Amino acid sequence: MQIDFTGRTALVTGSTMGIGLATAEAFARAGARTVLNGRDEQRLKAAAEAIRERVPAADLVTVAADVTTPEGARTLLEAVPAVDVLVNNTGIFASTPVLEIDDSEWRRFFDVNVLSGVRLARQYMPGMMARGFGRVVFVSSETAVDTPLDMVHYGVTKTALLAVAAGLAKAAAGTGVTVNSVLPGPTHTEGIEEYITALIPDAATFDQAQRQFIAEYRPTSLLQRLIRPSEVADLIVFTSSAQASATTGAALKVEGGTLRSLVP
Ligand SMILES: NC(=O)c1ccc[n+]([C@@H]2O[C@H](COP(=O)([O-])OP(=O)(O)OC[C@H]3O[C@@H](n4cnc5c(N)ncnc54)[C@H](OP(=O)(O)O)[C@@H]3O)[C@@H](O)[C@H]2O)c1
Repeated sequence: MQIDFTGRTALVTGSTMGIGLATAEAFARAGARTVLNGRDEQRLKAAAEAIRERVPAADLVTVAADVTTPEGARTLLEAVPAVDVLVNNTGIFASTPVLEIDDSEWRRFFDVNVLSGVRLARQYMPGMMARGFGRVVFVSSETAVDTPLDMVHYGVTKTALLAVAAGLAKAAAGTGVTVNSVLPGPTHTEGIEEYITALIPDAATFDQAQRQFIAEYRPTSLLQRLIRPSEVADLIVFTSSAQASATTGAALKVEGGTLRSLVP
């Protein structure tokens, strides 16, 4: 299968690091004009340079904007009025006992993890539908279907994204636009490295810590290791490709087999 995004524009929100950066790199490698986004110009510049080192022909645009605000969404729209692919990747997580999460924290998680992507879909989907092609991908999480005790607010926002993607897919029925969600499991990013190191401070190496983390906290994992950001990126790129035209309204797992349901 030759996945080719030549002539297409892909926007990946929150792409200065982690899964977003790996996804932006994968789109650039596949020939897309790739829009990188984050809040900080310097981090964006460093991310673009990192991609260009590995993909010298990369066609990159960087837009500094906080996509969790209406102003940030507008800044993006002014800089990039139309996209063929929208990957709503920006998201935050935190470990807090559920009875200690106050109203403002619940709202913050909803604003950042859910509303930001809904707003961008509202902004870009009508153009996609008018042009007869488009792909919207929401980066959810395995926690969408297996709520973690220490991250109930996070899990709830990721569950919400499954419904958002399914609903938007219905709104785009018959237009050539697909909307899906992707459910990664624990992925080796800087944030997860900090989280695991704090949970398992006595391990001799990080490799030992991550294996212990999987054994203790994700015992059903078939992969038995952290997922690589590029493994998530590749599923997102496939889901966004012309070849994935019959996949819409779906929740696609890339969680190393942790979730043991026979259907997603
Ligand atoms: N890592 C995992 O194990 C894992 C597992 C399942 C699902 N996920 C999901 O995957 C997505 C990416 O996770 P990650 O771990 O790769 O994240 P990360 O490493 O923490 O990176 C987050 C990205 O989002 C950007 N960002 C944060 N707030 C932003 C804002 N207000 N506006 C624009 N950009 C913003 C950051 O850029 P700046 O700081 O430069 O602005 C950064 O590029 C999230 O939705 C997360 O919930 C992650």
